[in-house]
Amino acid sequence: MSNDDQVAYWNGPVGDKWAKYQDRIDATLAPLGHAVIAFAKPQPGESVLDIGCGTGALSELMEAAVGEDGMVTGLDISDPMLQTARQRVPDARFILADATDYGFGPVYDLVTSRLGVMFFDAPATAFANLRRALKPDGRLAFICWRGPKENDWVSLPYAAAKPHIPPQPTFDPTGPGQFSLADPDHIRGMLEQAGFKDIRIEKFDGMMVLGKDLDEAVNYCTRLVGPTARAMKDLDVGAREAVTNAVRETLAPLATADGVKAGIACWLVSAKP
Ligand SMILES: C[S@@+](CC[C@H](N)C(=O)[O-])C[C@H]1O[C@@H](n2cnc3c(N)ncnc32)[C@H](O)[C@@H]1O
Repeated sequence: MSNDDQVAYWNGPVGDKWAKYQDRIDATLAPLGHAVIAFAKPQPGESVLDIGCGTGALSELMEAAVGEDGMVTGLDISDPMLQTARQRVPDARFILADATDYGFGPVYDLVTSRLGVMFFDAPATAFANLRRALKPDGRLAFICWRGPKENDWVSLPYAAAKPHIPPQPTFDPTGPGQFSLADPDHIRGMLEQAGFKDIRIEKFDGMMVLGKDLDEAVNYCTRLVGPTARAMKDLDVGAREAVTNAVRETLAPLATADGVKAGIACWLVSAKP
């Protein structure tokens, strides 16, 4: 997908869905936001830029960390998601713009993101632009997904769905999309090309609560987020039902008293301008 395609995608039904189900999606993605905070260590008084901020979950955490003397700016291409973010974090500033070519000045201590930097069609050019947003002593710190096979929350439902869905587009490991930063060598080379130094890439492994019960978890994987949900939109009623049943059967053993939990595998990445 080109950047223009991404603008259409995140301003269409997908952006509306993220805005409508913000509470549900954020409950599931919460561990990733907390991981970024622990990794990026935002300080009181700092100026923070949240790239691909979406509905503002990380912006909200950053806002609490930088306090009244600090400032958080969220930037995103999705109008419906930003509308939710503005209501949710009234003290932050939100900009509707494309991170790849927005005219940043070097005013931020921290450029950060929770899953918002994997969708650029020319990542090195885009990250070079983000580098221009940093003060000389600032830092980049973000979280992104490792590969789908390492992420049980993706691979388990998708394997269950696969017999019931038509062949999907071939997965391009470096093309724009959810898993474009899965390869750490690609991240390092791309950030070096963008002019970053002191690049650090750490694993973050954990568990994600897909839903408080099986119904919610199946709904998350087949209707809300991820490759199975994306494949579902083209199916007829019978195939949708078959996928839903297969995913339910696969997720059932993951149910605990605290919800249906699946493994997640991410990279935490930091660099200096
Ligand atoms: C997976 S969502 C993550 C949203 C949010 N960070 C969160 O964790 O809830 C990816 C976000 O990146 C945004 N995005 C994609 N391409 C972008 C670009 N070129 N510039 C700014 N935002 C972009 C999308 O609109 C979307 O909000």
